[in-house]
Amino acid sequence: MADEIVRQYVDSASTTGNVTMNVWRGDAGGGSFVEYELEAKEGEVVLDVIHRMQATQAPDLACRWNCKAGKCGSCSAEINGKPALMCMTRMETLPAGEPITVAPLKAFPIIRDLVTDVSYNYEVAKRIPSFNPRPKTTDELKAGGYRMAQIDVERSQEFRKCIECFLCQDVCHVIRDHEENKTTFAGPRFFARSAELEMHPLDVTDRRAILREEQGLGMCNITKCCTEVCPEHIKITDNAIIPLKERVVDASYDPVAWLGRKILRRTKASVAEARATSPVNGPPAVQPDAAVRGIPTAVGG
Ligand code: SF4
Ligand code: SF4
Ligand code: FES
Repeated sequence: MADEIVRQYVDSASTTGNVTMNVWRGDAGGGSFVEYELEAKEGEVVLDVIHRMQATQAPDLACRWNCKAGKCGSCSAEINGKPALMCMTRMETLPAGEPITVAPLKAFPIIRDLVTDVSYNYEVAKRIPSFNPRPKTTDELKAGGYRMAQIDVERSQEFRKCIECFLCQDVCHVIRDHEENKTTFAGPRFFARSAELEMHPLDVTDRRAILREEQGLGMCNITKCCTEVCPEHIKITDNAIIPLKERVVDASYDPVAWLGRKILRRTKASVAEARATSPVNGPPAVQPDAAVRGIPTAVGG
């Protein structure tokens, strides 16, 4: 099986030929797909072909990129209708002999060509109460640092792999198909961020009420589309969203948990206290200036 995969890769990689690329061109006022025919070489990724396009046929084509290594999160686009990083999508993984479509992220307002305004995400990020560690114990003060179990470190570390490409935000139907939900829904990237903080063994802020009342955790219906497109393979739904939903339900509706909190000493900060620790205390609404306009469905998408 492995030999077969290697043989297929070598066969396709050794083929240097022309490809047809349908790239969305336009701005906030509208646009359309433009067809380009150009060379694709062995081992190239979609971003290589886009760069050749800029060098030879479309010098004014706008696209974002920085690292070309799947780490900066800036080259996000929709390739053949699927949200993906252009620098991590190998040409030979796309159907041979068929036109390839490259479109901007549909969930965010267009700036120009493949560049979208993702500032909605930064506004959501500002509203999440930041890391708030408990004071060190006497032992920890002597040792000069916190003590944490390795399993706890690993649990929140999975979410630290996020490169903020916002592919998960783009694919999520709650905002992709309903612009109006951006005022009340944080989105999968930020559920992962909240999970990272909630599950951190040192953090003492309780974000559950914010998740339920302002970040729309209940609007997620666990379709797992966000997990499928994550280039860092973060199990957003299983490891972040579902555990957060369980915590929110426990906090809001479980009478035993309610009684336990009344009897036992509370160790987490209240919502009001959490707000006080948030770097931004503005209104919860998050609304970009313009809606996404004029992007037709990708060919074959
Ligand atoms: S699982 Fe939830 S957050 Fe992820 S894409 Fe589906 S609805 Fe959106
Ligand atoms: S969770 Fe994954 S898909 Fe979402 S922004 Fe982070 S790296 Fe990208
Ligand atoms: S260019 Fe950095 S992730 Fe693609």
